[in-house]
Amino acid sequence: MSIEDNKEMDESLQGTATVIKTGKPSNGKMLFLESYGCAMNFADSEVVASIMTEEGYGTTSDEHEADIILINTCSIRENAEERIRKRLTNFKNRKKRQPGLIVGVLGCMAERLKQAFLEEEQLVDIVAGPDSYRDLPNLVNEVGSGQKAVNVLLSRDETYADISPIRLNGNGVSGYVSITRGCDNMCSFCVVPFTRGRERSRSPETIERECRDLFDSGYREVTLLGQNVDSYRWNMTSKGEIKDETASTTNFSQLMEMVAQISPELRVRFSTSHPKDMTDEVIEVMAKYDNICSYIHLPVQSGNTEMLKRMNRGYSREWYLDRIAAIRRIIPDCAISTDIITGFCDETEEEHNDTLSLIKEVKFDFAFMYKYSERPKTLAERRYEDNVSEEVKSARLTEIIDLQLSQALASHQAQIGKIHKVLVEGFSKRSDDFLSGRNDYNSKTIFPRGKAKKGDYVLVKITECTSATLKGELVEILTSVTN
Ligand code: 5AD
Ligand code: SF4
Repeated sequence: MSIEDNKEMDESLQGTATVIKTGKPSNGKMLFLESYGCAMNFADSEVVASIMTEEGYGTTSDEHEADIILINTCSIRENAEERIRKRLTNFKNRKKRQPGLIVGVLGCMAERLKQAFLEEEQLVDIVAGPDSYRDLPNLVNEVGSGQKAVNVLLSRDETYADISPIRLNGNGVSGYVSITRGCDNMCSFCVVPFTRGRERSRSPETIERECRDLFDSGYREVTLLGQNVDSYRWNMTSKGEIKDETASTTNFSQLMEMVAQISPELRVRFSTSHPKDMTDEVIEVMAKYDNICSYIHLPVQSGNTEMLKRMNRGYSREWYLDRIAAIRRIIPDCAISTDIITGFCDETEEEHNDTLSLIKEVKFDFAFMYKYSERPKTLAERRYEDNVSEEVKSARLTEIIDLQLSQALASHQAQIGKIHKVLVEGFSKRSDDFLSGRNDYNSKTIFPRGKAKKGDYVLVKITECTSATLKGELVEILTSVTN
């Protein structure tokens, strides 16, 4: 196992650039939109596409056709920003050949670097932070009249609740639905609270309506998204006090129940859970509904309590293990994945060993594993020294990856011979003779297509596996989606 393999994993979280389907413009202008980073960013790009389409823009998947290029960016680690910067430099060269081409940078890097972007000659024309997408048409007009345009104001209440996202590059089966924006947690390593602002929840009615619309248009899975879904609350303060006595309140487990009741054929997933906030009530609702997937992404970051304190995570190793025990008690077969950071400030060999021992104890089904990357303005940057050498970070990361992958492989091997229910998402990447989907536990599952098609629920008997993928034979097609 090597660092290169983990780079692949990193990219699966970061995503590669995506482009969007072609549509005819009513204002004669074509938009090319590219997204990097987490699922939240991909969901935001769908809001941006909706706002721009309303303004008459057509969308194109060919950047050479574009009159305007918008790039939705990620700041979580330095290497994410470096990759995006290279891409912007490419566009800068295109601008020289195509005068009038507008390039805008959106999202976390826009928020973090603000005016600095505009000061770099010819690099970008628009800088728009995550809460300013409604202003994009105005920003584009400003550029049309010869100025550069910037809006990086963060909002306390923007949730884009009323905007129907345009589904981009999707498979038509599985869609993201944002339920909160921003984050109030202030983990010491993390830039997100600075780039995405204060946490706010979107109204349950608009969430339910979006999920219902997705189901009605043929989708069979929704993933409810937030930086910390467990702190979703409607009409309640963070202390649990009711804001408006005349209106009803909704917490995350109640919201999930509302969505699960749309149809037993609509699978529900959610991401990301926070160990300090995940309640038994949430796990019990998961257990109550067959269509809420038995899968929880519960980032631990480190297995050592002192380290968790430095990371300002708000829980101890014991607390985390107690949450794992609660999941195993209420949903014995629940799949659990995690995020781990290695080489955070002052990390000792002993602290690193505690992370290894926690991985052994929990036996995660999947993990995203990263080397610590210091981010400007964060608590860690101000308070601690990034003093674990690159060599030690790499060596520890390799050790963590090796252990995790061997355990994930063992857990997949235990599935051989068993039958899994899979929602088909489309053809496998390698061949149209095979279909690809995910089981309840979020494992990618590949099988010969037979008569099954995208959107079907099928039973697959597992015959082979790697640490990341299951392969099997089609046993039965359970439901067919007609449209
Ligand atoms: N360095 C490395 N990894 C980070 N993450 C967040 N900030 C950093 C950072 N500065 C990881 C955490 C988080 C995931 C989305 O990215 O593990 O859970
Ligand atoms: Fe960052 Fe922590 Fe918020 Fe996650 S919970 S976005 S790691 S500050």
